This record gives sequence, C-alpha cells and structure tokens, in this order.
Amino acid sequence: MTRSEVTRRVLVLNGPNLRRLGTREPEIYGTASYDDLVAACETAGTELGLSVEVRQTDDEAEFLGWLHEIAGGGVDAAVLNPAAWTHTSVAVRDAAAQLSVPFVEVHLSNPLRREEFRHTSYTASLAAGVIAGFGVGSYRLALRAVADLVG
Ligand code: DQA
Repeated sequence: MTRSEVTRRVLVLNGPNLRRLGTREPEIYGTASYDDLVAACETAGTELGLSVEVRQTDDEAEFLGWLHEIAGGGVDAAVLNPAAWTHTSVAVRDAAAQLSVPFVEVHLSNPLRREEFRHTSYTASLAAGVIAGFGVGSYRLALRAVADLVG
C-alpha cells in the first residue's frame, strides 16, 4: 500500500463551552450548532480521505488525557480548539508539547480581534499553524491543512 492509500486518523478536540455552540453568544461564534460542527468535520474528512473523530469536553483532565492518547501513538494529526484553555493553561501546552504528530490550532472567532486576554495562546507556538475567525469554516480549513501535512 502506498502512503497515499493509508487512511490517516485525525482527532478534532474541542475544549470548554463549545458544546453550546449555536446558542452561546451567536453574534461571536455563529448560529451553527455543535452537531453542525461535527457534521462539517466528518464531511470534510470524507472528502479529504481522512478518518476524523470529533470530541468535546468541559473537563480539563479529560482534554489532557486525549492529548496523552495522541502522544501514545495511533493518531496521525490533530485539530485543537482548546477554547478558554488556549489563554490560561500551561498544562494543556505541556501536553501538546508531547505530541510528535502535527496539530493545527483552530478558533471559530478571531481571538486577536477580541479582548486582550485572548491575545495570548499557550499552544499556538507548538502548532503547525493557526486558523481563526471563519466559524465552522475554520475547522474545514484546518482539516484541509492537516490533509496536506499528512498526505
Ligand atoms: C474560542 C476563542 C476563545 O477565546 C474562547 O474562550 C472560546 C472559543 C473560539 O473558537 O473562537 O471558548 O476558542
């Protein structure tokens, strides 16, 4: 089997409050629901030939566990939206630093256009790249980037 015939496994990990997408501050995050986000990622995965699994948690320990799972192998790349932990969590950064596969950081909104406390990302300097400001489209673009990275 050639490299291009192998289906790459990609985890899309979402941090706190993202399950409430659609009802949470729609003027900032848009009206698409979390289920819409999952469907968009799965459709993009099918189009790009990636095996995509989307998860969300409000529990930082669970998020860290998922990063440890990726570090343990069997996953080819990740798309991470650490949400508020982006700006606060050295623990999430330290877990992301253990990944030997590439990840793309995504945000629905553009944190750089928002409050100053959102201008710092603990994870961005570890990411292959950051895509922000396109709503659910940020995830589609991130998966496109991931397909190029691992394809
Ligand atoms: C977010 C931006 C963060 O600042 C915020 O805390 C979130 C969502 C985004 O996707 O735009 O919860 O990561």
